[in-house]
Amino acid sequence: MELVEEVRSLRESLIEHNYQYYVMDDPTVPDAEYDRLFKRLTEIESEHPELVTPDSPTQRVGDVPLEGFSQVAHHQPMLSLGNAFNDQDLEDFVRRVLDRLSNPGPIGFACEPKLDGIAVSLLYERGIFSRAATRGDGQTGEDITANVRTISSVPLRLRGSGHPLVMEVRGEIIMTRSGFDKYNAAALERGDKPFENPRNAAAGSLRQLDSRITASRPLDIYCYAVGHVDQGSLAETQQGRLQQLREWGFRVNPEIRFAGNPTEMIAYHADILQRRNDLGYEIDGVVYKVDSLEMQSRLGQVSRAPRWAIAYKFPAQEEMTTVNDVEFQVGRTGSITPVARLEPVHVGGVTVSNATLHNMDEVERMDVRVGDTVVIHRAGDVIPKIVRVLADRRPPDARRITLPDVCPVCGSEVLRPEDEAVARCTGGLFCQAQTKASVKHFASRGAMDIDGLGDKLVEQMVDLGLIQTIADLYDLKVEDIASMDRMGGKSAANLIEAIETSKETTLQRFLYGLGIREVGEATALNLARELGTIGRIQSADEDQLQTVTEVGPIVTRHIVAFFSQQHNRDVIERLVNAGVNWPVTEPSAEITEQPLQGRTFVLTGTLSTMGRNDAKAFLQTLGATVSGSVSKSTSTVVAGENAGSKLVKAEALGVPIIDEESLIALLKEYGVTP
Ligand code: IVH
Repeated sequence: MELVEEVRSLRESLIEHNYQYYVMDDPTVPDAEYDRLFKRLTEIESEHPELVTPDSPTQRVGDVPLEGFSQVAHHQPMLSLGNAFNDQDLEDFVRRVLDRLSNPGPIGFACEPKLDGIAVSLLYERGIFSRAATRGDGQTGEDITANVRTISSVPLRLRGSGHPLVMEVRGEIIMTRSGFDKYNAAALERGDKPFENPRNAAAGSLRQLDSRITASRPLDIYCYAVGHVDQGSLAETQQGRLQQLREWGFRVNPEIRFAGNPTEMIAYHADILQRRNDLGYEIDGVVYKVDSLEMQSRLGQVSRAPRWAIAYKFPAQEEMTTVNDVEFQVGRTGSITPVARLEPVHVGGVTVSNATLHNMDEVERMDVRVGDTVVIHRAGDVIPKIVRVLADRRPPDARRITLPDVCPVCGSEVLRPEDEAVARCTGGLFCQAQTKASVKHFASRGAMDIDGLGDKLVEQMVDLGLIQTIADLYDLKVEDIASMDRMGGKSAANLIEAIETSKETTLQRFLYGLGIREVGEATALNLARELGTIGRIQSADEDQLQTVTEVGPIVTRHIVAFFSQQHNRDVIERLVNAGVNWPVTEPSAEITEQPLQGRTFVLTGTLSTMGRNDAKAFLQTLGATVSGSVSKSTSTVVAGENAGSKLVKAEALGVPIIDEESLIALLKEYGVTP
């Protein structure tokens, strides 16, 4: 083949595969095939440098470092957006639009996620990517062409036809959450400083003078507007333009919808807010844009913000507050956890007044002191955490935090083994904090599931001396409970009934409920299934335990240590004598074969009975792979309440979809009772 022809054909294939992979999220060929084509093209280009073109896929690997970034004047200013913070603000915005247009009749709005990344302007001349710039102050930005060229989802050459001679496309460069997590994990491994959030990571990666560094970072783009255009015309609606951008090979956010009135717009905001943490990338609100470009130009702008668009922001996920005190909490296994008592602050839609500091290593790493001003981050249902100390605001009398020598609850000695980050109270069941935590765990949903036995009740029972160990629960009488705060005869009888009901259980729940360190639900399940009886588990030695699926040396040590304590064996005997029982099944070798091996599941939406983490653990125990994203190779999507884009994608790809009930049935079929 003529060399020029081969180069052309290689580029064509690579561009197509790249587009399918990065823009359509739908790989067409194995990575090895892509790599082979890429290698061949690189070889030819290095022997014949005259054949290299700026839109060649090989040009994405980065180039020699720049001295600095040059300035770019935007043809059209890059605007900012006005904000709405509640439904009323949004309704006012729509009203202002309608008034200004003197009641134009039906009017549509594009509803788009407001991506929390870095705005960019991409210039295409004759369909070839020629320059990228940051927003800067809106008038002038910085030339980041070399860096943006390395982002695989930015087209270097437009697809299709009909594009203007010169066209500026605008969008947001982001780092996905998974890319961010992976990058940070690797950075920590190397001893480098991790990025604080995906937005900073994207910004930091684009600010590199050495584009080879940018090339190594997992950046992505979504395009949402066209700026300057020369010689050519575009659709007259936002909807039409987004469609054109898609056809020309740009990534456009699949969550974009159209709405005709404030009610639909508010519903969109509520829906996206609710699914915010499932999106795979960070957003800080939604943007509404008048769909008609003609109306947009009639509406114009005030100072730097258009009158035809508004951002409806989500509640902030990061706020500042001060540390009023640090106390030490004692957990189920005696772990001593420092907890910061904060000046209450509204963040991510809730008021936060406590944040765990995990352990003393964490306290030292961040150098948190009482009196410090700190930044609190809360995402979704995740426990709020302190992400950073603002050291320059530290008052002179800020107090350092030290580990107490004795347990704050029972006064026993606190020990911190040399190879562990966690310090522990040595009080065992003598420590009321440990007793309370172990009873709460025993009664919890994944364990004995004692309905109505909440944390407050457990605390009272322990404080009143009604129970000292989990076994005492089954000796409780209606009179004992009726004498407690806010407990009438009826609720006392109900609780006794629930305690009675809990006696019918499974070995897995029982084992999990014992609260052996490192024995979570999945490990308990494996132990129960593969060893079959409590007797066998109690008397198993380290070698036998290690034959159990996913049980390694650390778990083994904890299990052996637990059963070597006579008082633990006594508690188990008392529970069994009180009537706690479970169906006895033969330990089955065939289950260890992992019947779901080779199948890939994706979990989406809310699973009300077990939660996604448990569902994942159960599926993995049966050998399945659980993935975060849907593709053609997904075997099954489990869709809970309010499932969103993953469900849509599964439908589009024809991937089988089941609900939570069917998942439970499937698990049961293989002997797993969630
Ligand atoms: S439109 C009207 N659409 O928000 C022109 N901007 O506050 C404004 N942003 O600098 C741009 N997602 O970085 C638009 N879907 C979206 C957006 C979006 C995020 C950012 C953009 C801009 C800032 C404006």
